[in-house]
Formats: sequence, structure tokens, C-alpha cells
Amino acid sequence: MILVTGAGGFVGVHLVKRLSALGLPVRTLVRSSTNGGRLRRVAGTLCQSAITDTASLKSAMQGVEQVIHLAGIFREGWKETFETAHHEGTSRLMQAAREAKVRHVVYVSALGAVPDRVYPFVRSKWLGEEEVRESGLPFTILRPSLVFGEGDHFLAPLKRSLESSPYVFIPGYEPLRCQPLWVGDLVSCLVNTVDGGVAKGETVALAGPEQVTFEGVVDLVQRELRDGRPKILLPLPLAATATLVLERVMGAPPLTTGVLDMWRLGATTSLNAVQNAYGFTPMPLSEGVRYLLSSPGPPPKRKSRRERMLTPNRLG
Ligand SMILES: NC(=O)c1ccc[n+]([C@@H]2O[C@H](COP(=O)([O-])OP(=O)(O)OC[C@H]3O[C@@H](n4cnc5c(N)ncnc54)[C@H](OP(=O)(O)O)[C@@H]3O)[C@@H](O)[C@H]2O)c1
Repeated sequence: MILVTGAGGFVGVHLVKRLSALGLPVRTLVRSSTNGGRLRRVAGTLCQSAITDTASLKSAMQGVEQVIHLAGIFREGWKETFETAHHEGTSRLMQAAREAKVRHVVYVSALGAVPDRVYPFVRSKWLGEEEVRESGLPFTILRPSLVFGEGDHFLAPLKRSLESSPYVFIPGYEPLRCQPLWVGDLVSCLVNTVDGGVAKGETVALAGPEQVTFEGVVDLVQRELRDGRPKILLPLPLAATATLVLERVMGAPPLTTGVLDMWRLGATTSLNAVQNAYGFTPMPLSEGVRYLLSSPGPPPKRKSRRERMLTPNRLG
């Protein structure tokens, strides 16, 4: 049995669909009933609990052999901080996993995870990693760059803000860089780790096949949408303050502290990162933007050679 935390989120829904389609036994952990409702149509067993709720975690862990830990936040709330969600939450989860004698934990961290207080989001992901490393359980840590796909926290907010504002704001006078990864490719990596044993015991940086600047992404999106809105460069400190204010007052802000942290750090790595670790070439952002913003058809099929070889129900 594979327990997926954060299963009702962007990556979680894509992952659970794929695991279920492969016939792998999945239990999903969701915090809100809204997310639970979304998943009920997709996956088998569903548990509703926060990862900080020790008692509910204990029952969610029964019979679980592997955990894919996705639960996390991109903006802090009045009660919940990056520290409580990623550090304390991962600590409690590892404790429950240890008690349940789970045999493998896959933690989805973030590219550039460092213990640097200047970047609270990536720092908390680093502290979460430390909890996994010190848990005594066999683990794999995957560090993706920004992830794009249906329902993402990256292109979708950018498109929304283009539609609602007369200008496009670009944070930073110096170009901010990242190396976006398609959600379908991240899911392939996760499946190949839990079911194919690829990258077991490793910490792996995962990113797409091209590095882009924030402005370059805006250009791509504007070209696709045939949008000619003027761009305005914002000094980074001003952009960071505006992000902090907007994420507190807007339901769906154009940018969040977590996403901005990754841009500021420069969430980039080798262009062959996925090829080297998993043996396939991920989708370039330009292809993804075309598919996501213009063509309503099904997403391109890009499974790795290894995944095609997988047989369902290998995990009992
Ligand atoms: N998307 C990216 O670009 C990206 C890049 C690098 C790393 N990552 C990492 O990948 C993971 C998945 O990302 P995502 O984009 O799918 O995030 P997401 O859409 O925000 O989903 C995360 C899910 O975790 C749940 N969650 C948060 N705190 C929780 C808690 N204390 N207890 C139980 N559930 C909790 C959330 O539930 P609620 O809906 O109830 O809040 C949400 O459903 C995250 O850990 C993220 O840091 C993502």
C-alpha cells in the first residue's frame, strides 16, 4: 500500500490518477473535505487528516509500505507557517511512519533547498529533508524545480493575472531563472521510484530540459495568448512585499512567497537531470505552454521506457 500525503493538491491529483491507472494500491491523505471530494472519483481509500495530527496519522499508516510525502504549502497563513507545515509536519509523519515500520519514504522537497533564513520556504523544505534523513527509514528525496501542468501554481496564476491587470509585473531587475518541470514527468519519476526502485536512497534534483527567466515565461505566455500588455519591472524587495500582502488578502494571488523563493534562489540544475536519473527527456516548457494555453486535447503521452515496463500490483 502506498500512502500519498497532500493527495488533493496539484501534484497529488495527477499522481494518484497515475498510480490508480497502473493498478497500484493507493491510500490518499487529504486535509480538506473539498480535496477529498475531488479525489473520491479518482482513488481508492481516503483518509482525512492533517500531517500534524498524530492520532489520525497512526490509523492512516496501517498496512502502509511506502509513503509519498507531498503535503506542503506555498504561502503562510495566520496559523500555519512553512516551519509548521514542512518541518514539524514532516517530523510527525516520520514518527508515524517509523512506528508503522514503513519500508520506504519518498519526500518531495524543492530544488535549491538550503538552511538559509533569507528564503523561508526553501529553508523549511530543507528542515523537512533533515527529518527524513534522520528518520532511520529508507528514503528518497526528490527536489523538483517549479512544476507546470493543469492546476499549477506557476502558469495558471500568471495567465489569471494577465487577464485581470492592464500591466504585467516582472519581479527583479536582474533576470530570475528556473527550469520548469512538467507535472506528468514528475509523476513518472515518482512512479518509477516507488514501483521501479529507481533512485532509491538518493537525493535527486529534478528539472526540465531548459532554463528560463521569469520574463521569458511571460513572453511565452503572452505570445500564446496574443497578449500585448506592457511589462513593468519591479525591484525585488518591492515585489516580495507586494507578494506577501497579496497572498494574505487574495484567494488566488498571482505569486506566492514559496514560488518567489524558488525564483529568487534560481531553481536550476543540469539540463540532463531527469535523463541522468530516470532515463527519459522531460517536456520543454514551450511545448507545455502551447498545450496548456491553447489546445484542449489530452496531454501529450511522455512515459519513460522504464515506466512502460512496469506491471501493476507489484507492491502488495
Ligand atoms: N508545484 C510546484 O511547482 C512545486 C515545486 C517544488 C516543490 N513542490 C513540492 O511538491 C509538493 C506538492 O506540491 P503541489 O504543487 O501539489 O502543492 P499543493 O497544490 O499546494 O498541494 C499540497 C497539498 O498539501 C496539503 N497540505 C498542506 N499542509 C498540510 C497538512 N498540514 N496536513 C495535511 N495536508 C496538508 C494541502 O491541503 P489543503 O488544500 O487542505 O491546504 C494540499 O492539498 C509540495 O510539498 C511542494 O512544496 C512543488
